[in-house]
Amino acid sequence: MNILFVGDVFGSPGRRIVREHIGHLVKERGVDLVVMNAENSAGGFGVTPAIADELFDLGAHVLTTGNHVWDKREIIDYMQSVPATSHERARRIIRPANYAPGSPGYGFYEGALPGGQTYAVINLQGRVFMNTFDEPFHIVDALLRQITAKVILVDLHAEASSEKIAMGWHLDGRVTAVLGTHTHVPTADNRVLPNGTACQTDVGMSGPYDSIIGVEKELVLARFLTGMPGKFEAAKGDARMAAALIECNGATGRATSIHRLMLGE
Ligand SMILES: [Fe+2]
Ligand SMILES: [Fe+2]
Repeated sequence: MNILFVGDVFGSPGRRIVREHIGHLVKERGVDLVVMNAENSAGGFGVTPAIADELFDLGAHVLTTGNHVWDKREIIDYMQSVPATSHERARRIIRPANYAPGSPGYGFYEGALPGGQTYAVINLQGRVFMNTFDEPFHIVDALLRQITAKVILVDLHAEASSEKIAMGWHLDGRVTAVLGTHTHVPTADNRVLPNGTACQTDVGMSGPYDSIIGVEKELVLARFLTGMPGKFEAAKGDARMAAALIECNGATGRATSIHRLMLGE
């Protein structure tokens, strides 16, 4: 079984570059399951129901998010519009599972592909340098007790590489992959741990690389240079798609390989 995980899709340049490449990638690599991090897909900040639809139309089965999930307020009602047992698109957008109890939406999704292959996707957020309610290591232990699928993908949306690598070792042999998102910078440490969990500290951004992590360079620089608040806008140039391709055994969930992908214009 082949899984494609697309790193933080940033604004329209990110959506465009994913649209350009995903068709042939899925076909040539025999991809069965597609997961995308969508927290920056709407103009760099958040995700709307319409943009989620666009990503589902491109072939995403599940969309994960992170700290920007609520930036576009309309996603809140949308994510709350379905019960936990639903398999509709609104249920297949998830937010970190370790947010405050009672937060809108759901922290994981469990489903099946048309052929019957079951899978689950868990979204978590790190705590180092971030405002996260609950500690993700014990939260994921509790979630794994209720998930029956063997193929399990974890998107740990976190700033610190140490926290993401620690999660990989914590879950080695219990999930198919632990993939880091949020920094928008891909790391070259993709590997399969001894008990069959594929890991990469950060998959990187699918978006404009002529930028500072997706935002217009001048605007971010001005904030660093002056300390003054200012509006951030998504950059446009040098769009690239960053993704990880994981091969695993569909029956056991054990990963056999993880490859980094970086596709440009
Ligand atoms: Fe992001
Ligand atoms: Fe983020």
